[in-house]
Amino acid sequence: MTRQVAIVGAGPAGLLLGHLLRAAGVDCVIVERASADYVLGRIRAGVLETCTTDLMHKLGIDARMNAEGLIEAGFNLADGERLIRIDITALTGRHVTVYGQTELTRDLMEAAPERGLEIIYEAGDVALHDLEGDAPYLTYTKDGAVQRIDAQFIAGCDGFHGPSRKAIPSGAVREFERVYPFGWLGILADVPPCHPELIYSNGPRGFALASMRSATRSRYYIQVPLTERLEDWPEERLWDELALRFDPISERGVTRGPALEMSIAPLRSYVFETMRHGRLFLAGDAAHIVPPTGAKGLNLASSDVIYLSDALIGFFRDGNESALVGYEARALSRIWKAERFSWFLTKLMHRFPEDGPFEHRMQIAELDYVASSQAMQTAIAENYVGLPL
Ligand code: FAD
Ligand code: PHB
Repeated sequence: MTRQVAIVGAGPAGLLLGHLLRAAGVDCVIVERASADYVLGRIRAGVLETCTTDLMHKLGIDARMNAEGLIEAGFNLADGERLIRIDITALTGRHVTVYGQTELTRDLMEAAPERGLEIIYEAGDVALHDLEGDAPYLTYTKDGAVQRIDAQFIAGCDGFHGPSRKAIPSGAVREFERVYPFGWLGILADVPPCHPELIYSNGPRGFALASMRSATRSRYYIQVPLTERLEDWPEERLWDELALRFDPISERGVTRGPALEMSIAPLRSYVFETMRHGRLFLAGDAAHIVPPTGAKGLNLASSDVIYLSDALIGFFRDGNESALVGYEARALSRIWKAERFSWFLTKLMHRFPEDGPFEHRMQIAELDYVASSQAMQTAIAENYVGLPL
């Protein structure tokens, strides 16, 4: 098979890129290791910036998001006792949208066939070849046979553990990393949220987040040591913990219900420089990770593919490489600012095992400052809602 662009990975980055390229008439295919059901079973992001919702509007894959997405005009930081509301709309004139990554992924997958976007699921042993020449190709196994896709470009949208980043020789790159000494234990349940807007809380019992997917579906997280395992957390234990943290500060208190999903996610900040090697371009989690505290990961995948689709569409329109040159610099400029914000919010809102009373007083002082300073609230709001493209 020969295509103009071969995309590795059918997460948000790969699906959005595939749709953008198809809408511009570029011939592309997506190769995904997992099954469609497996991809849709992953519960991840919940908060979309306008760069992501605008992209869905532009693609015209927005009917369900328009109907079901919750417009959030603000969110809250809490110190365990009081809520500090960040009024995003008053401070920036904008808003974020609560619409799950699972739903966005489903919409993009379902729209693929009618738009001529081919997705090959359950492709094993995906490998990238000849990236430095002008005829790169992918190989993978499907139904026991080795398959090959020749392409002019390969887009590595295969997340943090995929093969694309690893195909770049180590001499050509720099890696920047901060691993945090805790993870997030999450629960999803069909119960009404405890509060109309998200609450990120740094209380005496550690970090917790009250989020949602709809008026009847809640998503909560708490900070847990990396040594903790899911088996240590029967549902009732987690609900008890959430009630202790959110009953005193939320509007309705925590409603309990059977878990639809529970998982533990590690927290990491990571940037891989370079995002281009010959005919391979990286986008999304394949090139960078942010801790989920700023709700930036999926939204960075969106901005990456906006820049990357511009570059590739420019190349196919003009027939020369100049359009490709700016991709990495444009993407990294936005990525590093989102890394900074996610790191800042993670440090402000979590209890770090190595911290003592001094560091904790610094957190309290900073939250006090946020509560009293419109300038600080504006800085937080404009980062949370998403910096300009
Ligand atoms: P992925 O979603 O990881 O997709 C990569 C795809 O590549 C996968 O489908 C994978 O199966 C496939 N793949 C991997 N290896 C191979 C291979 N060998 N061959 C072929 N395919 C392969 N972000 C936000 O913006 N807002 C939030 O509120 C938010 N909350 C989060 C909460 C949690 C608990 C977590 C864990 C993440 C959260 N994120 C959030 C981050 C967000 O989920 C990710 O940044 C986003 O999924 C990145 O999309 P991606 O397409 O780059 O990578
Ligand atoms: C979520 O709802 O899953 C969510 C919301 C906000 C975050 C991270 C995750 O910062």
